[in-house]
Amino acid sequence: MKIGVFDSGVGGFSVVKSLLKHKMFEEIVYYGDTARVPYGTKDQNTIIRYSLEAMEFFNNFDIDLLITACNTVSAYALPDMRSKSSYPVVGVIESGIKALQNKLPDRSANILIIATQSTVASKRYQNEMAQLGYQNITAIATGLLVPVVEEGLFEGKIVQSIMEYYFEGLERPDAIILGCTHFPLLSRAISNYFDGHPLLIHSGEAIVEHLEETMKLNRSFEQTKLTIFASDNVEGLRKVANRWLEL
Ligand code: DGL
Repeated sequence: MKIGVFDSGVGGFSVVKSLLKHKMFEEIVYYGDTARVPYGTKDQNTIIRYSLEAMEFFNNFDIDLLITACNTVSAYALPDMRSKSSYPVVGVIESGIKALQNKLPDRSANILIIATQSTVASKRYQNEMAQLGYQNITAIATGLLVPVVEEGLFEGKIVQSIMEYYFEGLERPDAIILGCTHFPLLSRAISNYFDGHPLLIHSGEAIVEHLEETMKLNRSFEQTKLTIFASDNVEGLRKVANRWLEL
């Protein structure tokens, strides 16, 4: 099976990493809209427009499925993308919430969502979780954590002070939804900040579980062919891929 993975930039490699680890697909075509990243500070109309334009890139490839690794795109653009595509389009929010439900069914648990400004403003996570009965939800836009990850900083002084800035005074959560492609790279720092206890929901792992449940996939691909494209500085993107994916 040949799939497309779309992200606003480099972040989608955190999802690709899980897809590769679980040997899910024969071929992955990755497209990062590096010319227009970040999406997480844009408004709804811009996010939808950029996502639809980026989706046209995949017309050159005969893909069977498109995964939007970007939480911000998943929060706003899926209905429009689905109405314009001949293949299924899967986002990361639904699968993240499903993973939370499976791993932490207690509806009184204290849940923290961290995501971009636009994802938090969309209330997609908050509303869907509230509908499922979760009562203690806190959502914080932690946008400063995006550039530090892009800078290759996954722990240390700067990450620590940004976490203090956002998390100071928060009660320790039972689970944290890492609602942004970049945040799985901060898993260790975030766990340590909250004394190593909270359950972390990672979009990449969640989508693997979701696809396994909903599609009959034959996970026997020893090797996945990964091709990387971008709207700007594709070489830079490939270098980050090598680092993040440890290729
Ligand atoms: N990929 C985005 C997300 O998961 C983060 C980077 C951006 O703001 O474009 O929301």
